[in-house]
Amino acid sequence: MAFPEGFIYELKSRNDITEVISSYVSLKRRGRNMVGLCPFHGEKTPSFNIYTETDSFYCFGCGAAGDVITFIMKIENLDYVEAVKYLAQRAGLDMPEDSYDDSLNKLRRRVFEANREAARYFYRRLMSEEGKNALGYLRGRMLTDATIRHFGLGYAPDSWTGLCDYLKSKGFKENELVSANLAVRRHSGKGIIDRFRDRVMFPIIDLRGNVIAFGGRIMTDAKPKYLNSSDTPVFKKSENLFSLNNAKNTGSRALLLCEGYMDVISVNQAGFRNAVASLGTALTTEQAVLMKRYADEIIICYDADEAGQKATARAIPILRAAGLNIRVLTIPNGKDPDEFIRSKGADGPAAFRAIIEASGNDVDYRLQKLRSEFNLAVSDGVVDYLEAAAHLMAEIESPIERDVYVSKLSKEFGVDKNALLLQIETISKRRRRDSRRREARQLQSELSGRDDKLDKEHRSRLKSTAAEESLVVYLINNPDSLSYINSQISAEQFQNALMKRFFVYFSNRISEGLEPLNNITADFSTDEQSVLYRILHQNGSVAPTPRSLREYIEVIERESRRPSDKKSMSSEQISSYFDRIRRDKE
Ligand code: GTP
Ligand code: MN
Repeated sequence: MAFPEGFIYELKSRNDITEVISSYVSLKRRGRNMVGLCPFHGEKTPSFNIYTETDSFYCFGCGAAGDVITFIMKIENLDYVEAVKYLAQRAGLDMPEDSYDDSLNKLRRRVFEANREAARYFYRRLMSEEGKNALGYLRGRMLTDATIRHFGLGYAPDSWTGLCDYLKSKGFKENELVSANLAVRRHSGKGIIDRFRDRVMFPIIDLRGNVIAFGGRIMTDAKPKYLNSSDTPVFKKSENLFSLNNAKNTGSRALLLCEGYMDVISVNQAGFRNAVASLGTALTTEQAVLMKRYADEIIICYDADEAGQKATARAIPILRAAGLNIRVLTIPNGKDPDEFIRSKGADGPAAFRAIIEASGNDVDYRLQKLRSEFNLAVSDGVVDYLEAAAHLMAEIESPIERDVYVSKLSKEFGVDKNALLLQIETISKRRRRDSRRREARQLQSELSGRDDKLDKEHRSRLKSTAAEESLVVYLINNPDSLSYINSQISAEQFQNALMKRFFVYFSNRISEGLEPLNNITADFSTDEQSVLYRILHQNGSVAPTPRSLREYIEVIERESRRPSDKKSMSSEQISSYFDRIRRDKE
């Protein structure tokens, strides 16, 4: 076991789950429980629940579930031990003496340390004779020394083993440097070499100030222009944003979403500290949900080129789904934010503010894009454009929002507002009908498929799983019933492997006098916890009664006597099956 049972108990009682979660999620009381918008997936109506009775959370939308430790692991992106440390610190608890340190946790710590040392090394090289060129390059891009220091930019020298030699002299092992992706193994397999050579370095820093990765830009036209750390034990590209550590503290509930490192840095230097970049990948749902924690509005500042516009079109639905409001910046003359600001010289900040203020929301942006596809000089073109616009409008859920655009369009083109509204209504009706049909077809095919597949065995299997789930719930809620249940049934009679594990686990804990759910995060994976909290909470607070308990036992007992699939039974199972039949006959 990882930590002493009593320590975890103390930790959990000093970190009230509702209190901890309320600093991330705004919660409303519903009966005995609390509800809010799930921080782990985008949603507009709350399906995230906190159950005070079991000190747990469960999201009906995405299945995220667990106790206060799991919550911190997920939201702060920590492993188990780190989350326990975090909560201990929060509650002012000392960690137990010989705290266990598993090897992954140890490796993560070493990778953080190696990254930090590497960032310092790169910065010193940039400021040394060796980094003259690189410093000149950054200054040539109009970055001030204060900006360079603020972002901790650096220079990876033109050497095969400069960083490796330095970090080895600091006690780092080859495998630690390879794990950090600061070094790669030589093709020969013998020894390691620096991953980044002769590049300007941009450290990526997480929300707690750890250096988690690097981007490196070459200073010539050679390829690849940027080299980024691949995923490591401390870095997942799709779940992080460059400069969110700076942007989260500005007090603004808006974020400027840029494409690249240089854009973020330039925009920052121009006085807008709330800029982030999605690290050169297409924006992911994880990143959108992460931004939602710090912002209500995203201002997309992607490049004005075709790639940037495509990326904008892809980002809009992802951001909308996360419940974020969107504005889209239009940068004149095909520039990116960095080029735009630089091109304005001393007026850069004011000019950038002006285009932020002029930016429309995502619907404005899409209408404008649409416009460029039609010839509005001829009537046919106008009709086609308005038809297409009506399709776009039909996607908008809020009637008020719809009305705003319809009014604008009707004024602009001198068409009857009601005609437009009628058109939109026809389209949404057709859509609703289509989606209803699709659902019906799907349901039907699922049902018929199920009928084919669900032979008797499988059906009874579902019945036994339901009974096993209920029995586990009953046991957790009524620890005193353990001896009665044990006199009626044994773990071998369970069909569902996970329920069997839960049954054994909770029986053992209860007989040792331990709080059943105290140590759940250490002993089960997040998926397993999700199943556990689903079965614990799916029926609201209707607790199974002693009478239903006897029914569950009966079902489990009956189903366990039925061979599930003789071919796949082990010889042990077969002999115990025949034993049981024999016993029944006696
Ligand atoms: P500068 O040319 O230095 O101004 O950079 P930029 O940010 O304008 O570059 P660009 O618009 O081409 O790319 C945007 C972002 O995509 C960069 O900041 C990188 O994160 C990423 N990126 C660009 N080029 C590459 C590449 O060759 N490889 C990888 N992995 N990422 C890249
Ligand atoms: Mn650029």
